[in-house]
Amino acid sequence: MFTIGILASGKGTNLQAIIDYIKEENLPIKIGIVISDNPEAYALERAKKEGIRNICIPCEKYKTILDKETEIKYIEVLKENNVELVCLAGFMRILKKNFIKNFPNKIINIHPSLLPAFPGLESWKKALEYGVRFTGCTVHFVDEGIDSGPIILQAVVPILQDDTPEILHKRIQEKEHIIYPLAIRLIAEGRVSIVGRKVYIR
Ligand code: GRF
Repeated sequence: MFTIGILASGKGTNLQAIIDYIKEENLPIKIGIVISDNPEAYALERAKKEGIRNICIPCEKYKTILDKETEIKYIEVLKENNVELVCLAGFMRILKKNFIKNFPNKIINIHPSLLPAFPGLESWKKALEYGVRFTGCTVHFVDEGIDSGPIILQAVVPILQDDTPEILHKRIQEKEHIIYPLAIRLIAEGRVSIVGRKVYIR
């Protein structure tokens, strides 16, 4: 069994897509733990419903990062649960150096744009406002920058004339739910390697 840990702050639709894909494909992948910084996160409910271990580790001190002590707790819980890959699925905090050092090339994220375009928050809105014809989503390794690590998979979503931010985000999420579980599978199967900025899949 390849054990993954999932960090989520919100709805957890990506978590659900990962759960469903593992079941449908009968993959030897186990979600060892779901951690949220938000006690209200529906992601925690989804984990409970599926009988997946879950815990809320809040961080009152900051909004966008973890303080030192809380960071240590996250690392401990992930290690206690033998997590081999940390998957950020709508986790609304930036991971700092020490966290990343503890899981070298073992943290991935799903981002709602075709990186390197539109890093940061609400990227679907930025794409719409900018007027690009295509956007999409990206699964990438997490490094110390913001949405800047090596790219594993991307999917393209055309922007339509009448799109609202909500409609566009929904179409991007449909693609996220396909490429994120797939990227996890490829890594679990040992088919992904990183050379410099490039990711090779065999
Ligand atoms: C996704 O749109 C993802 O791209 C971004 O956060 C959102 C999480 O959504 N990083 P959900 O909680 O998985 O529904």
